[in-house]
Amino acid sequence: MRFEPLPLVALASAASAAVSASNSTTNGTTTIDEPCGVISSAVAEFYSNDSNAELNFEFLPSVANACLLSSGIDNELAADFVIEYKKYVEFLTTQAYLKDPPSDYPYPAVDILGGLDSLASKAAAGGFKSQYLLDIALNDLITSAHEGHLYTSFCSLQAISYQRPFNLASVSSDGVELPKLYLLADILNNSTQISDVVAINGQNATEVVEKEGLFQLMDPDAAYNYMTASQGRVPGSGSNIGTFEAVRYNFFPGDYTNVTFSNGTTVPFENFAYIPPGTWDTEIANGDDFTKAFCILPAQPSPTTSSASSSTATATSSSAATASATETTYPDLFPYTPVVRDPNNQVAGYFLNGSDYEDTAVLWVSSFAQEDPRFADPETITISFQNATRDFFAALRDAPSRTKLIIDLSGNGGGNTLLPDDLFKRLFPDIEPYGASRIRVPVAADIIGQTIAAVPDSLVVPTAEEIADPSTVSAQKIALYTSFFNYRQQLTTELTNFTGWSGKDGLFPPNVQKGDNFTANYRPPLNDTVWDESVDGLDVYGYPGANSETFPQPFPAENIVILTDGFCASACSIFAELLTRQAGIKTVVVGGRPQNAPMQAIGGTKGSLAQPFAQIQQLSQAVYNASEYIPSSLLELANSTLPGLNPLPLGANSATALKSWSVNGADNIPRGDDLQIPLQFVFEPANCRIFYSESTVLSPRDLWMQVADIAWKEGKCAWGGIDTVVGNNGTGVGNSTQTVPTSGSSSNSVVVSLAVLAAAVVSMLML
Ligand SMILES: *[C@@H]1O[C@H](CO)[C@@H](O)[C@H](O)[C@H]1NC(C)=O
Ligand SMILES: *[C@@H]1O[C@H](CO)[C@@H](O)[C@H](O)[C@H]1NC(C)=O
Ligand SMILES: *[C@@H]1O[C@H](CO)[C@@H](O)[C@H](O)[C@H]1NC(C)=O
Ligand SMILES: *[C@@H]1O[C@H](CO)[C@@H](O)[C@H](O)[C@H]1NC(C)=O
Ligand SMILES: *[C@@H]1O[C@H](CO)[C@@H](O)[C@H](O)[C@H]1NC(C)=O
Ligand SMILES: *[C@@H]1O[C@H](CO)[C@@H](O)[C@H](O)[C@H]1NC(C)=O
Ligand SMILES: *[C@@H]1O[C@H](CO)[C@@H](O)[C@H](O)[C@H]1NC(C)=O
Ligand SMILES: *[C@@H]1O[C@H](CO)[C@@H](O)[C@H](O)[C@H]1NC(C)=O
Ligand SMILES: *[C@@H]1O[C@H](CO)[C@@H](O)[C@H](O)[C@H]1NC(C)=O
Ligand SMILES: *[C@@H]1O[C@H](CO)[C@@H](O)[C@H](O)[C@H]1NC(C)=O
Ligand SMILES: *[C@@H]1O[C@H](CO)[C@@H](O)[C@H](O)[C@H]1NC(C)=O
Ligand SMILES: *[C@@H]1O[C@H](CO)[C@@H](O)[C@H](O)[C@H]1NC(C)=O
Repeated sequence: MRFEPLPLVALASAASAAVSASNSTTNGTTTIDEPCGVISSAVAEFYSNDSNAELNFEFLPSVANACLLSSGIDNELAADFVIEYKKYVEFLTTQAYLKDPPSDYPYPAVDILGGLDSLASKAAAGGFKSQYLLDIALNDLITSAHEGHLYTSFCSLQAISYQRPFNLASVSSDGVELPKLYLLADILNNSTQISDVVAINGQNATEVVEKEGLFQLMDPDAAYNYMTASQGRVPGSGSNIGTFEAVRYNFFPGDYTNVTFSNGTTVPFENFAYIPPGTWDTEIANGDDFTKAFCILPAQPSPTTSSASSSTATATSSSAATASATETTYPDLFPYTPVVRDPNNQVAGYFLNGSDYEDTAVLWVSSFAQEDPRFADPETITISFQNATRDFFAALRDAPSRTKLIIDLSGNGGGNTLLPDDLFKRLFPDIEPYGASRIRVPVAADIIGQTIAAVPDSLVVPTAEEIADPSTVSAQKIALYTSFFNYRQQLTTELTNFTGWSGKDGLFPPNVQKGDNFTANYRPPLNDTVWDESVDGLDVYGYPGANSETFPQPFPAENIVILTDGFCASACSIFAELLTRQAGIKTVVVGGRPQNAPMQAIGGTKGSLAQPFAQIQQLSQAVYNASEYIPSSLLELANSTLPGLNPLPLGANSATALKSWSVNGADNIPRGDDLQIPLQFVFEPANCRIFYSESTVLSPRDLWMQVADIAWKEGKCAWGGIDTVVGNNGTGVGNSTQTVPTSGSSSNSVVVSLAVLAAAVVSMLML
């Protein structure tokens, strides 16, 4: 899952606003001549004082909004942008389901490609008055997919952020009664006299938070949680700030958030807009300048003639062999004193104190890839994760009285998709993880698949000697072998090879679902060292190549329980699905909307691959350049459908932009789901649902004790109970029509390999 980072200390580093709406104010919208120019003058003045150099520049939201609304637009360029952008979005797997969702899907149906067509037509007809209005329309469209892997930072939305000056918490008296909203600061003050928040700007507070949370996560309860404070998110994001405070998606919050408490008091809080240091060009005099600065690209060479050179280095850097000796230490984001702590802030293992809990251990997995350089060394995260879990299971073998294990997945938004298999095998060495994925195959993907299939085997498949020593395989061969659209790479659901790209036993038979073309369901070759090491930088525990000692199953399933805050997504969803579907592990979920109803443990995307635009683009270019292998009947189609042959004409002028923009590139299809419904569209309630209380919202340890009581001492839940049979098929909790009996999921993130492929194919075939 992909999220804009929350501002870690935005408030602490804030300085007061220097811009005021000096002109007239009409109807809540400030009318200023050239508001963007007014901001420029104030920014220049603010940073002329050296002591402000590290601070955010803060100012009135209504001035920010006026500037954004005044942004200039070239509608013709905007139309070209949407047309090219759509070629990438074709790779989004869930379109047909979004257009026609199952009856218990909580959101309205949406036609993403059709919506893009409409926006392109409107732009072509000169229909947008500002770049900001176009970007808001695009953002509204793609966030209505509720798909954490579908992410684009549209250009005009990057300039200015909004924030409210307080954090909300949703707290129940005991974790079982329905929760109310409070200011977190009130709870921290530990006063006995605090009143709950009943209204926000005169509207029902719960409904305001619910509505504003709508576009944040896949599940509405998980989204509600994400709006409010949580200590559970600290190891993952460095902050407990909820997104009611850290306003997302450029939702304009107005100048005030007026909070009414149950004691009748109303407090008008002043919201603010902010600009981080060094990000605003003070030459901006008006809205046209704003758009030029943030959206219009400098002239660039056609990408089809430039090589994808920069990708090779990044691709090899994650190999299992690299363990950097850097001595950097990162802040300890995990609380207390863990028994084992990953220095990269991904995993920590604890033994609970107290005579009632001396049999209980906790493994907190907050991320499967902590990629924030403030908190981790991206070069070592994979190995440090494996080491920390290895060491924790060793500590458990030395402490045989610890017979119960809570696996806390709070705040885990995903990451490396082989680590879930690795950790699963440490817990259940005798179960073969079942994970099946499939890719949507638009015309462009079919062309890519056919072209790679036409490249001779000798350039693609590692020899026996190379498999024995993966370090001897050339980068080029690895790249070809591990490419997503290479039929030789993946295994069938029965763990046999595919026979080709097209055809009945091929990777693309085609598998037609809801009128859309997909590949067959495939499983990753976990036993394949070349693949594991080049794709995800590790050898999976218990498979060839992993030279770690193996041990028997450490706990019976009934002595393990999963705790989540609903944030779990992507690789975390793969892990939770394996544990629940294949090993029968029970789940407890905490938080969500104030209702005694079931809630999903996995509330983020359940897609199995975040596919960056950069890799789709490089792959397209490589394939286009490999035209001798493109079936000649498809050459013309290749020209018009492959994404990235033309540069995106707006707001994507840095390599970083395309690397961070992504689609959900693969669906997770559980075993036994004959209807092949992607898990995002299957409601899977946790066995037990509770709420945060005043103590558990601040203390993960108090929460673990409550969860231990529920799992092993008949503690109460707000909905369900540890023995509630949920069957992961929505029975009795909505009207899902799909049957989803026990099965599991896993997949691969070939994020790295496509880039290498591109570089390799370019160099191989252009020579
Ligand atoms: C509006 O603000 C601009 C910029 O501060 C200033 O130049 C202009 O005189 C103001 N107009 C009025 C009517 O106050
Ligand atoms: C103020 O805004 C409302 C709602 O957007 C609109 O109906 C009304 O006409 C506006 N009033 C003025 C004076 O602009
Ligand atoms: C809050 O106050 C209660 C008594 O009113 C006390 O038992 C508790 O330790 C306090 N908690 C904190 C975090 O200060
Ligand atoms: C009402 O409750 C709020 C929130 O707890 C508090 O800040 C405020 O002081 C209270 N007002 C009165 C008049 O007690
Ligand atoms: C919020 O309070 C401010 C300051 O008292 C006031 O100007 C504004 O109209 C209020 N907004 C709403 C929506 O009540
Ligand atoms: C606020 O809305 C929630 C959810 O719709 C509802 O349960 C609650 O009763 C409402 N509160 C008030 C004070 O109307
Ligand atoms: C992982 O553990 C091995 C063996 O103990 C050690 O050599 C290596 O440096 C560790 N790597 C990291 C990144 O912690
Ligand atoms: C599947 O293909 C791989 C090479 O891609 C080969 O090493 C392996 O032997 C094949 N397996 C079977 C069962 O044919
Ligand atoms: C699906 O793929 C087949 C085979 O390539 C093609 O003939 C058909 O037009 C495709 N259908 C759609 C809806 O793209
Ligand atoms: C992995 O397992 C599959 C299915 O059992 C087999 O076809 C393949 O040859 C194996 N690959 C390696 C590298 O052992
Ligand atoms: C691809 O299409 C563009 C127009 O979209 C055209 O200018 C170009 O010549 C075409 N290239 C090839 C190789 O057909
Ligand atoms: C769903 O799961 C429950 C519990 O495992 C089972 O009793 C029920 O038959 C299942 N329903 C369907 C439609 O498969």
